Amino acid sequence: MNHKELVFIILTLFFSGLSAQQRIVEIEELLQKMTIEEKIGQLNLLTPGGGVATGSVVSENVEAKIKAGKVGGLFGVAGPDKVRVAQEIAVKQSRLGIPLLIGSDVIHGYKTTYPIPLGLASSWDLELIEKAAQMAAKEATADGINWNFSPMVDIARDPRWGRIAEGAGEDPYLGSKIAEAMVRGYQGGDLAAEHTMLACVKHFALYGAVEAGRDYNSVDMSKVKMYNQYLPPYKAAIDAGAATVMTSFNDVDGVPATGNKWLLTELLRNQWGFGGFVVSDYTSLNEMISHGLGDLQAVSALALKAGLDMDMVGEGFLTTLKKSLEEGKVTEEEITNACRRVLEAKYISGLFDDPYRYLDTKRPARDILTKEHRNLARKLATRSFVLLKNENGILPIQKNKKIALIGPLADSRENMLGTWAPTGDLSLAVTVLEGLKNVAPNARIEYAKGANITDDEEFAKRVNVFGTRIDIDSRSPESMLEEAVDLAKTSDVVIAVVGEATEMSGESSSRSDISIPESQKKLIRALVASGKPVALVLMSGRPLTIPEEFDMPVAILQVWHPGVEAGNAIADVIFGDYNPSGKLTATWPRNVGQIPIYHSIKTTGRPGPLDGTFEKFKSNYLDVPNTPLIPFGYGLSYTEFKYSNLRLDKETIGPNDSISATVTVSNIGKFDGEEVVQLYLSDMVRSITPPGRQLKGFAKVMLKKGESKEVTITLSPDDLKFYNGQLEFVSEPGEFKVFVGPNSDAQLSKTFMLK
Ligand code: NOJ
Repeated sequence: MNHKELVFIILTLFFSGLSAQQRIVEIEELLQKMTIEEKIGQLNLLTPGGGVATGSVVSENVEAKIKAGKVGGLFGVAGPDKVRVAQEIAVKQSRLGIPLLIGSDVIHGYKTTYPIPLGLASSWDLELIEKAAQMAAKEATADGINWNFSPMVDIARDPRWGRIAEGAGEDPYLGSKIAEAMVRGYQGGDLAAEHTMLACVKHFALYGAVEAGRDYNSVDMSKVKMYNQYLPPYKAAIDAGAATVMTSFNDVDGVPATGNKWLLTELLRNQWGFGGFVVSDYTSLNEMISHGLGDLQAVSALALKAGLDMDMVGEGFLTTLKKSLEEGKVTEEEITNACRRVLEAKYISGLFDDPYRYLDTKRPARDILTKEHRNLARKLATRSFVLLKNENGILPIQKNKKIALIGPLADSRENMLGTWAPTGDLSLAVTVLEGLKNVAPNARIEYAKGANITDDEEFAKRVNVFGTRIDIDSRSPESMLEEAVDLAKTSDVVIAVVGEATEMSGESSSRSDISIPESQKKLIRALVASGKPVALVLMSGRPLTIPEEFDMPVAILQVWHPGVEAGNAIADVIFGDYNPSGKLTATWPRNVGQIPIYHSIKTTGRPGPLDGTFEKFKSNYLDVPNTPLIPFGYGLSYTEFKYSNLRLDKETIGPNDSISATVTVSNIGKFDGEEVVQLYLSDMVRSITPPGRQLKGFAKVMLKKGESKEVTITLSPDDLKFYNGQLEFVSEPGEFKVFVGPNSDAQLSKTFMLK
């Protein structure tokens, strides 16, 4: 144990209200009593099935193994009664009675499902995001869970990767702030408290950079890029006190993350001072065999020595570590250290004081799916929506109109929750049809499906592994289309709910073509051709390529997968009860060929034109402009905001000084509304090539119609720093340019000098 780890333990124990000294002594005494088999047993995480299996293996003989002291934790078990059964076996029937950690994937809400994380991030509302995580922790702990496999903080700049849905998007600054907020929300100030659970930062590391956006693929990246662009959110989560870390499936610098000593020990523990424990991802230890690193015994020894503490499902540790110890391939100290870290997590969760502390059978009814939680889920969903376009002010729609509600997602309960919602209940989700009727009981609303999500049966089969999400209608596509167009023609306005089924994004759901499926494109064209005003409500778990739809004279409201209150929240925004304020946290490309695409691209030595024209021998394409279809940070409102009078409080600063930018933001439109004011920074000269501009601050402000506010965003000395060629975190003297505005194309700018 190094010094930093010791400090971490002492502090954590102190905050849990226990005597640090006493706890350390107790852990050491327990370790003294443990056999080597029992120590190895603590490193074993199993799932008895019943949850979502994300690999081909589900654990066997779980009960016998718990009795034998061969299990440190379980996941996929929930509910006070069920968890009590497991906990009692561990506490009463195993020799030392060590309680179990009970894990779960509570990715965007427990039973009260809120928007997928990419949607939640689009709110740019850190306070609300923290509240969302608190709500998730309250519900999950009421159901016996004490360890959450969240937050997922992988930076993702390739929307082909389905798991972009699970994170905060492309930006390390915003991603770091969101990671901190989620850790605070899950863990609170006291991990032993009734409503808090251990967070698990995942997937360490760089999982979002898998080549070609294909899930589980390789990653290869320079250290400079890693440190500056991809590692900050993991570090932020750890600095915020995240108790555990999950490794990723990919390799880092040629070594799978699960067995990567540089990553798990040198960086995570030695450089960052992480003192908690590290768990593998689902069988990622065993997968090191396929990666080409040796047999199960070899990869298990390698992973332990690298710094892995707990093995999820694969039982490589359980079945080989003793042999490796006997053969001198690992040491008893290495096994003991891993075991100690797992025991410490159980201590700080209060499980040794009371193994049944999360098992009050009265809590689920009291704490889960309460009115208050559903209201929060509805609010979170409205804040996650991004208005991409609003031709002729089609939105908001008046509540007394005759509305044609059309589209395969308009009356689809099973697609509202989004990917990775295994603890949610599909049957509770509010459809768009129901939501519109709830919010506007006097509107005349008629529904037609209009098209299948896709007509491709093979594709649908692949998407439908967890149940039917794409339902191919028995009617012909032509007759569905005809019915929809007829309905549109007799209505005042068309709302078309289109896009991706929930399982078209998420784990193992990469797409090489990220457009709206052709069946729905045909429907959209026909609806627009009807001449009626059309509002597209677009659902997806990723940025899509929509150049054709973006060119149409329509409104487009991007709603991701909004969660249990989907329909109500969509109706709130459609009818103007809430004025949309979400902003994209990942760039929307024009086509797949532009990927990877993100706002903080480098200028290169031959910057291409930004106006869409072409210049020979510049960095650009023959067939598409360099600019994205829709930039990072973008999102419209029903009102209009004007930015003016940007000023800095200093012209020159020293390396330890802060600097503040102030801008006047005016609501010059017809509605009250919220705006996310964004600050981007360009480092004009430095020792390694800088990104063109980087997000370095933002503020969400409410402005009444006609109101103006002064908004100040302050840059700290650290905001000017970056990791240089020697990986030192430094700022370098020279000119900086500040841009402030409504998105990453912000135009107002001012310059200052760092001495
Ligand atoms: C595999 C996923 O990659 C990970 O995010 C999840 O936490 C585990 N399965 C456990 O379900």
